[in-house]
Amino acid sequence: MRWWMLAGVFALWTGTAGAQPTPQSLERGRYLVEVVGHCANCHASRGADGQPIAGRGLAGGWVIEEGPMRAVIPNITPDRETGIGNWTEAQIIRAIREGKRPDGSNIGWPMPIDFYSRISDADAAAMAAYLRSVPPVRNAVQGRSSYPFPVPAHPAVANVPPPADTPVARGAYLAGPIAHCLDCHSGRGPDMRIIPGREGAQGLSFTGPWGTVVARNLTPSTTTGIGNWTLAQFTRALREEIGGDGRPLMPPMGRGRVWAAMTDQDIADLFAYFRSLPPLD
Ligand code: HEC
Ligand code: HEC
Repeated sequence: MRWWMLAGVFALWTGTAGAQPTPQSLERGRYLVEVVGHCANCHASRGADGQPIAGRGLAGGWVIEEGPMRAVIPNITPDRETGIGNWTEAQIIRAIREGKRPDGSNIGWPMPIDFYSRISDADAAAMAAYLRSVPPVRNAVQGRSSYPFPVPAHPAVANVPPPADTPVARGAYLAGPIAHCLDCHSGRGPDMRIIPGREGAQGLSFTGPWGTVVARNLTPSTTTGIGNWTLAQFTRALREEIGGDGRPLMPPMGRGRVWAAMTDQDIADLFAYFRSLPPLD
């Protein structure tokens, strides 16, 4: 075979969605899905005590109710009957980034599509390949989500670029598209949309058996934010789930120390990003 034919074959092969993922991209997908993105925070099956069940991190079934909204979290393991085992890699990428299922329906709240729409092409492919590689778990979730409004579409963002090579830009990519920290840690208006310029300010509150906790101010305000924090304190908050006041962090921030496996580099980039925001009180 001549070299140009080989090049053509190679281009075809790498361009085919669903072609053999490399060990590196599977590992990247695992890190994004299981650690930084932590899809299990919503997609895990939960026991009667509300705690995630080990080994069922992506098997779904949890129901989140908020006022008139009821979200039934689907099984995203590759089980053919009860999960997404019949979806191609391209269909999974479309579901994550555009919130569109293969049947054309839109995926609703609280799946953070507004953030996931800007996951880079390579990272979305790595996540989809990883999701197709995990053991299928048979779990038929009960009922369907219902929303008191039409579920919005999320038009595709063409050729989503990877984050620029600066700590602040990489941190912004992790805090937004990948880990959706800003989903909880931003000020929202009465319509529940994030108020531009209030990113990182105090955000959503969560009530559970642990009481009510509020996603705290992560801007560099020296009075109410992380303006006086060191990288070591920020690392302790993510890895050991201890807040600035020394108390253990409660769910959904306290999540069984999954972020203990986050790399030093990613934590430092997140810190650089939050410290670059305008300080807000
Ligand atoms: C904050 C909660 C939340 C997080 C975090 C979350 N999801 Fe979802 N996801 C949902 C909900 C809720 C639905 C179903 C919404 C509906 O019924 O319209 C969903 C649906 C999906 C679907 C469509 C499955 C189907 O059968 O319809 C896929 C695929 C998916 N999520 C993948 C992911 C991946 C990958 C991640 C992590 C990168 C993730 N989700 C993180 C809440 C979440
Ligand atoms: C699903 C909602 C949610 C997401 C996503 C989330 N957080 Fe939080 N976060 C909270 C809540 C709620 C608290 C307060 C918990 C408490 O008081 O026990 C908190 C607390 C914190 C604290 C402690 C602040 C202090 O003053 O002690 C830090 C630091 C933090 N989050 C960083 C992050 C980072 C970085 C990310 C993304 C990698 C993130 N959070 C994603 C909800 C969230």
